[in-house]
Amino acid sequence: MTPDRFISGPPEGCRPDWTIDQDWASYTADEHRVWVTLYERQAALLPGRACEPFLKGLEALDLHGEGIPDFHEMNRKLNALTGWTVVAVPGLVPDEVFFEHLANRRFPAGRFIRRPDQLDYLEEPDIFHDVFGHVPMLTDPTFADYMKAYGEGGLRATRLGRLHNLARLYWYTVEFGLMETPEGLRIYGAGIVSSRGESEFSLMDPSPNRLGFDLVRVMRTPYRIDDFQQVYFVLPSLQRLLDDTLQDFGPIYDLLGRLPDIAIDAITPDDRVFTRGTQAHAV
Ligand code: PHE
Ligand code: FE
Repeated sequence: MTPDRFISGPPEGCRPDWTIDQDWASYTADEHRVWVTLYERQAALLPGRACEPFLKGLEALDLHGEGIPDFHEMNRKLNALTGWTVVAVPGLVPDEVFFEHLANRRFPAGRFIRRPDQLDYLEEPDIFHDVFGHVPMLTDPTFADYMKAYGEGGLRATRLGRLHNLARLYWYTVEFGLMETPEGLRIYGAGIVSSRGESEFSLMDPSPNRLGFDLVRVMRTPYRIDDFQQVYFVLPSLQRLLDDTLQDFGPIYDLLGRLPDIAIDAITPDDRVFTRGTQAHAV
C-alpha cells in the first residue's frame, strides 16, 4: 500500500531516487552536541553487550564522539571495506525506493538529528539511529551481502504480495537481532544499539522471550513498533543468516500463505528457548 503522498514522487529538493546532499557544513554546534551525547552514552554501554562485528565496525569507521559524521569521509572507509555507500534522504522513503538502494549497496540515512529533548525516544529514524545503529554492521562482509540480498528480496516480495512477511525478517534481524557467542548473547540489531533503554532491556530484562532464530518462524511473528520487543530471536552466526536467506523464498512464501501467524508472546514446541520471558513489561 502506497500512501498518496508518495505517488507523485520525491518531495521538492530531492533527486529522483529521493537522495539529498548531507550538507555536513550546515549542522549547528547544538546538533553536533546531540550526537556526542548519544554517542558517549552508547559507547559506554556497548562493550560486552554489542557483538564484535559491530564494535569493530564502529572503530573501523572512526565514528568517534566528535560530532555528526561527514558522509564523504565515512563512505571512503566503508566503501573500501564492503562496497557500501551511505546516502542522505529527508526521512522515511517508499519501500521500493529503499529496496532499490539496498540492492545497489546504498544505505539511505536520514540527515536530520533528534532534538535534545528526544534523546530516548523518537518516532522517525534520525541520523543517529541510521548511522550509529546501522552502518557499523555494514563493514562486515557477510552482513553487507545479506543487506544487498535483502534489497533484491524486498523488490521480489513486493511483487508477490509477501512484503509483510519479509518486513518481519528485517525487524527481527537488522533492527532487533541478538547473536549467540561463546561469551553469551550479544546485540547486532540497529534498533537496539542505538537505544539506551533497549541495549539493557534486550539482554537483561526478565520480560521478553529470547528464542533461537528460525527463518519461517520469524516471518510468522508480528512485531511492535511502540515499545521494547516482546520477543528477540538469537542467531548462531551472521553466516547462518546469509545462508538461510540465499535460498529461493518462492516455496517459503507459499507455505506462509497457508500457515497462521504466531502470537507475539507465544513459545512453540519447535522453539529453542534461551529465555522464557515473564512478559511483565508488556502487560
Ligand atoms: N532469497 C530471497 C528470495 O528468494 C531474497 C532474500 C535475500 C530475502 C536476503 C531476504 C534476505 O526472495
Ligand atoms: Fe533502522
